[in-house]
This record gives sequence, structure tokens and C-alpha cells, in this order.
Amino acid sequence: DASAHAAAFDAAVAADERIEPRDWMPEAYRASLVRQIAQHAHSEIIGMQPESNWITRAPSLRRKAILMAKVQDEAGHGLYLYSAAETLGVSRDELLDKLHSGRQKYSSIFNYPTLTWADVGAIGWLVDGAAITNQVPLCRCSYGPYARAMVRVCKEESFHQRQGYELLLALSQGTPEQHAMAQDAVDRWWWPSLMMFGPPDDESSHSAQSMAWKIKRHSNDELRQRFVDICVPQAEALGLTLPDPDLRWNEERGHHDFGAIDWTEFWDVLKGNGPCNEQRLTQRRRAHEEGAWVRDAAAAYAAKQHTNGEA
Ligand code: 3HC
Repeated sequence: DASAHAAAFDAAVAADERIEPRDWMPEAYRASLVRQIAQHAHSEIIGMQPESNWITRAPSLRRKAILMAKVQDEAGHGLYLYSAAETLGVSRDELLDKLHSGRQKYSSIFNYPTLTWADVGAIGWLVDGAAITNQVPLCRCSYGPYARAMVRVCKEESFHQRQGYELLLALSQGTPEQHAMAQDAVDRWWWPSLMMFGPPDDESSHSAQSMAWKIKRHSNDELRQRFVDICVPQAEALGLTLPDPDLRWNEERGHHDFGAIDWTEFWDVLKGNGPCNEQRLTQRRRAHEEGAWVRDAAAAYAAKQHTNGEA
């Protein structure tokens, strides 16, 4: 009966065991995972837009090949995550429909424009760096399919982060104009990258329950602090400065203190008023419509396989 199921679920989570698709789970647990995994997947596919803006204009064949590989990886991360969401009984069509109609979110970070080539480096170093800081703990998430998807995503993210860092280093050590371009990109991407970790803990509506279910393993502020502590020495090695005059090492805390984040900007972007929200969703809806024939052809092919008994 329900109470025995609930007790077994609680015991499994308490023992750090994995909850699998066929296990009983509280409806609220399932719904929260669908919410988070779907929005994670949406972030991956919307995240392809800012970077693909530079694929045709990469400064060399090597940079173009690296960027194409990274954007393709993001599409693959989206597929792993939509598949993980489907194990919870939702369909990809339904989730995409919620994205296209604004009923589900994607990460705030992808509503900012990529104005110069240096932005590709800043995204790799900062955005993928933040994603790694957020996704490594998710490899220990209580829901099996999500945790396992994260293991593979994290391996590919580390390539994404390294290529961005290396791109910025080349610019930073290049001509004065290239150095200035790298610094300008870091100035524009630093604060929005800190916002990726979510609102402050005392304004996070899901954290307490998500941590009780061992979906979220560290709080938003904890991971944000971890990311700042990782970036400070890397910025020094890059010869670039982080745009925060209040950033300083706090011996007592063993962490870097940093300046106030503009949360009105964050909530404004979430409301749809960021620089690129409209453009990103319009592009996504158009791509979905233009891709309808691919879905129809794949479905027709699958049906034919099925009737031929080859499936
Ligand atoms: N952008 C958009 N919405 C955000 C957000 C952000 N940066 N941070 C928080 N939110 C939303 C939450 O989704 C929630 O709204 P909802 O109820 O409609 O879902 C609300 O703000 C309150 O935030 P909470 O902290 O209470 O929500 P969570 O407990 O879900 O924590 C999170 C937010 C830390 C982003 C968590 O959902 C998470 O870890 N998600 C998985 C990782 C992820 O989605 N990363 C996005 C970037 S993916 C990426 O960068 C790809 C890389 O390859 C480049």
C-alpha cells in the first residue's frame, strides 16, 4: 500500500540508492524531476543558438571544427536529457510544446547575445565551467537515468570548458585589440554566469525539497561560491580581470567574497525581458516547424520497420 511504498522510497533515498523508472515514487518527486530535466534539456538545445552564430565566421578551420563539435555535443546533451525525462512518462513532443509556448523555461544565460568571437571563448570558459560545477553533483542525483546522463555530459563539458579557456588565452596573449576583445567578453558574461546557479538560497522555492530528495546535492549559493573560487585563479592565468571590484580572498571564510548580483536583471530575464528571449524562442519555433518533415519521415520509416517485423 501507499505508506509501505513511501517508506521504501524514503529508505532508498536515505541510503543513497538510485530510484529507477519502475520504482514507486511520490508524484511530486516525479513532477519536480520532469520540471528540472525538461528545462535542462531545453537549455541545451536553446544554448546551441548563441554559439552557432559564430560557426560560419570562425577565424580558422581548427576553431570552426571545434565549435561545430561543441554545438553538436549540446544537441546530444539535449537528446540524453529528453530521453531521461521520457522515462518519467512524458513525451518529448509535450515538453517541446511547453518550451515553445513559454510554459517551461530554459537557462537565463542563453538570452544574452554573442557580439564578438571572444564570446565563444567566454561561453566555453564561464558558461560551460558553471555548467560543470552544477552538473558534477547531479551525477549523484537520486534519480538513476538523470544521474547516468550527467556522467557522460560532464565528460563532454570538460572539453567545452577547455576549448573556451584556450581560445581566450590565445586572444588575451594576442594583439592589444584581441586582449581588449577577450576582456570585453568576460565583462559581459561574468555576472550572467553567476546567475545560472539560480536565485539566492533564501529565494529558492525548490531547493529545500530538492535537497531532501537528493536531487540537488548542494545549494545554489554553495555552487555559485565554488564556481567563483575556481574562476579567480583561472582569470589570473588568463591575464584577464573579473568585472567585480568587491572580489577578494577572505582568509577567514576560505572563499572569495564577491559583489552583489543584480537579481532584478535575473528575474527580468526569466520574465522574458532579456536581450534575446524573443529571438531565441522565435528561432526555436521556426526550427521545429521546418524540421517537421524529418520527424514525419523518421516516424514513417519506424512504422515500416515495425510492420516488416524488423523492429
Ligand atoms: N535560468 C532560468 N530559470 C532558472 C534559473 C536560470 N538560471 N535558475 C533558477 N531558475 C528557475 C527554476 O527553474 C525555478 O522555476 P520553475 O519552478 O519554473 O522551474 C525558479 O527559478 C526557482 O529556482 P530554484 O532554485 O528554486 O529551482 P531549482 O531547484 O530547479 O534550481 C537550477 C535551479 C540550479 C538551475 C536547477 O534546476 C538545476 O540544477 N538544473 C539542472 C542544470 C541546468 O538546467 N543547467 C542550465 C544550464 S545547461 C547548460 O549550461 C548547458 C551547457 O552545455 C552550456
